[in-house]
Amino acid sequence: MQPQTVANEISEIIVTGEQIQARIAELAKEIDAEYRDKNVLTLGVLKGAVMFMADLSRALEIQVQMDWMAVSSYGSGTVSSGVVRILKDLDADVMGRHILIVEDIIDSGLTLSWLVQNLEARGAASVEVVALLRKPDAVKVDLDVRWIGFDIPNEFVVGFGLDWNERYRNLTGVGILKPEVYS
Ligand code: PRP
Repeated sequence: MQPQTVANEISEIIVTGEQIQARIAELAKEIDAEYRDKNVLTLGVLKGAVMFMADLSRALEIQVQMDWMAVSSYGSGTVSSGVVRILKDLDADVMGRHILIVEDIIDSGLTLSWLVQNLEARGAASVEVVALLRKPDAVKVDLDVRWIGFDIPNEFVVGFGLDWNERYRNLTGVGILKPEVYS
């Protein structure tokens, strides 16, 4: 879906689809170099990371095993609750694996912080994170994130996997949702 389709609901496109694809190509080169001699398991966090996982995986030259987890960190609103529940666990055994968590956004960082600890506790050989977006002004926990696509302002954003009420995930870029849509 192109931004003009929802022009009345989005105040500004902050990262275009083209910018995302160019950044993914850069990130893929760095990730290729890091995991060239390792058997990596990419772990997409549903549902927001679907687009990023799909495009990043195809930009990689190395072979990867792809797996998915669904965790819940938000209620129905727009503010992180800090409560993380596993809705769907990954299928692969974590023990001894090099895991690359693929996330769409780091907002408070609570979801990732919990997930990294969870995977380490299950015996992962290494756990790294690649996140397409990060809101530096919203991060509440100290997190070691290896690769970031874009730092963005602390606004409610949708698109490229990110939703509001399950809408806008298939927008090609990332835009700021007008407050009147969700308030
Ligand atoms: C979003 C996003 C991250 C998390 C980030 O997921 O995909 O997983 O919130 O927030 P945090 O840094 O404050 O923890 P959400 O729970 O909205 O689910 P979704 O991916 O299915 O949309």
